[in-house]
Amino acid sequence: MESLVDTGASEAERAAESALRPKLLDEFVGQKKLRSQLKLVLDAAKLRGSSADHVLLSGPPGLGKTTLSMIIAAEMGSNLRLTSGPAIQHAGDLASILSSLQEGDVLFIDEIHRLARPAEEMLYLAMEDFRVDVVVGKGPGATSIPLTLPPFTVVGATTRAGLLPAPLRDRFGYTGHLEYYEVDELESIVKRSAGLLGTDIATSATTELARRSRGTPRIANRLLRRVCDYAQVHGNGSVNLSSAREALTLFEVDPQGLDRLDRMVIEGICQRFAGGPVGVSTLAMSIGEEPETVETVAEPYLVREGFIIRTPRGRQATVKAWNHLGLTPPSGLF
Ligand SMILES: Nc1ncnc2c1ncn2[C@@H]1O[C@H](COP(=O)(O)OP(=O)(O)O)[C@@H](O)[C@H]1O
Ligand SMILES: [Mg+2]
Repeated sequence: MESLVDTGASEAERAAESALRPKLLDEFVGQKKLRSQLKLVLDAAKLRGSSADHVLLSGPPGLGKTTLSMIIAAEMGSNLRLTSGPAIQHAGDLASILSSLQEGDVLFIDEIHRLARPAEEMLYLAMEDFRVDVVVGKGPGATSIPLTLPPFTVVGATTRAGLLPAPLRDRFGYTGHLEYYEVDELESIVKRSAGLLGTDIATSATTELARRSRGTPRIANRLLRRVCDYAQVHGNGSVNLSSAREALTLFEVDPQGLDRLDRMVIEGICQRFAGGPVGVSTLAMSIGEEPETVETVAEPYLVREGFIIRTPRGRQATVKAWNHLGLTPPSGLF
């Protein structure tokens, strides 16, 4: 079974998500600072009658980067073209996308930190000078034809802004960083989504979902869908606090938003390695998981919530982790 609190979205989930995406900046909940900065960038471009500056959005998965790119295109009344770093294998792939752009188009490049080097270089030339060199033919007879592009806007999304080479990062006129959401913001998101799904949900249940969503709208919406399923099967379809809690228990999402994997990780550290420190690969192996899964799915939230800390010698469980498992922490631990 796919984890309910995984921050990534599967293919099937994308369809469900697109129905819940806010279409305009005013419907986008939270991220107040980013929202007003972005509004200024877009309003100024509209006033000038030009395409907007290139925008870089950085932040953890599920916080609204793709949604914002769609909003940018909608607010500018532009066409949106979607691609991603890993989808562009060769510089030629990027050249053909770039040469088909029309004036004012928004080109969204997801996971832009994963672009290959030659594509990256082509991109920053295109972003700066609206120019691309298209290579025609193969071998010794190949020629490169410089092509002028109409003004367009690149919106790049990355979970790892630090991995972006400086020359590329510098081509973005505006960089917005998305932060994890507060509980009250997630409550608004759950309420809005429930409205769109036509589900009646009690305020106390909304709060419960918001608290268990790890500051992440994607998780909030996913928990809401499961809770709605539960209420339909076991009741009249209305979600109240007790049906919400029962559903979350069924899916093993605990009151702090920890799921099976998270608990396996902290249990592993506490019970098999006396609280750590223990290296990620050793820990992952002991619980039968891939180190990558432990590192990208469980760890960020466990660290952020203070269940574990990273030390030079590995991961260590905190008092909070021991307490969460109902175990007595070793003396002298913080
Ligand atoms: N600020 C927000 N307000 C309402 N819904 C949001 C917000 N941010 C994200 N969402 C919802 O969360 C889901 C994931 O958002 P998405 O833009 O795909 O995240 P990312 O691209 O950062 O991984 C979408 O269904 C979207 O509708
Ligand atoms: Mg996305």
